[in-house]
Amino acid sequence: MSKVTAAITAVGKYVPDYVLTNKELETLVDTNDEWIVARTGIKERRILKDKDKGTSFLAIKAAEDLITKKDLDPKQIDLVIVATATPDMQAASTAAYVATKIGAVNAFSFDLESACSSFLYGVSVASQYIETGRYKKVLLIGADKNSSMIDYADRATCIIFGDGGGAVLFEQNIEGNGFQDEYLRTDGSGRQFLQVPAGGSLMPATKETVKNRLHYAKQDGQTVFKNAVFNMADVCEKILDKNNLKNDDIAWLVAHQANKRIVEATARRMKLDASKVMLNIQNYGNTTSATIPLLFADYEKQLKKGDDLVIAAFGGGFSWGAIYFKWAYNS
Ligand code: UT7
Repeated sequence: MSKVTAAITAVGKYVPDYVLTNKELETLVDTNDEWIVARTGIKERRILKDKDKGTSFLAIKAAEDLITKKDLDPKQIDLVIVATATPDMQAASTAAYVATKIGAVNAFSFDLESACSSFLYGVSVASQYIETGRYKKVLLIGADKNSSMIDYADRATCIIFGDGGGAVLFEQNIEGNGFQDEYLRTDGSGRQFLQVPAGGSLMPATKETVKNRLHYAKQDGQTVFKNAVFNMADVCEKILDKNNLKNDDIAWLVAHQANKRIVEATARRMKLDASKVMLNIQNYGNTTSATIPLLFADYEKQLKKGDDLVIAAFGGGFSWGAIYFKWAYNS
């Protein structure tokens, strides 16, 4: 019998309608369009303005897009994983709510959180459930309402982040496509450089934490940038070496969209031509867990069955890694 691999067989996406442009940011903080485009590659990002909607809304919309496109009966889904750094609330699974709302009534579900690496790690987890044969259909959603934790008076963060959601379906494959190999890392000494300090168990909410704006994301941009450039390139190189792959073998680099310069530096280290590098940061900014599935959705028509992909991410924790993956269908 052929080896069973875990392939992506459908994708879906959702971004909110509201477009936050660099021009609008110029009215909020001391910044300008030229600086943002030159230093990050971002032209605009989408923001979920509705006060009564959280990350689950983005996740549900992305999943529904996939379900419609694939003509999938949600009752057939076995497991729903929501990769997110901005769950609807603490101590109630966002994934449980999402699964019920999309009609995945026969599925169990859970959230997976590892900052900007959440979706990447989700690919690893979902793939194992499929490879072992335990489940047949695993829906992995990456969604983040980053605007819920962004201080629009802090130019180090507000220019970067946006809101969005993307979904992929994992199913068994017997042609050798799908998940191939991974190299995943974490280093907890990096958590001081990128975090939302308050609101967790370490520093619960008080009047002081609110007054001191500690419920917003804080980052030491330069330190995160240097670590991201070095580490993402490093794991991409390692996954190529480990699998005896040359740069010519790779059809696409599917890298977390945190900063265009980080993605370009990774591609340079892999000696990849720019035409093989997926980029949509200009439209959405950094959507944390949604960047990679949004890339799959936006590039779906250009992806070909058998394409060799390197999927990579770097984020808070620090957490990072690279996955070697073969695309399984033509659309
Ligand atoms: O998803 C994973 C987590 N996040 C990341 O991967 C983000 C990683 N970091 C970055 O993307 C970049 O560090 C930033 C985009 C946050 C900042 O870019 P940078 O090139 O590292 O800028 P910098 O902090 O080194 O600042 C360079 C200059 C400074 O001015 P001087 O001292 O050279 O006169 C800053 O004051 O740019 C200034 N500056 C700004 N100017 C306009 C910093 N932020 C801004 C701004 N607008 N928003």
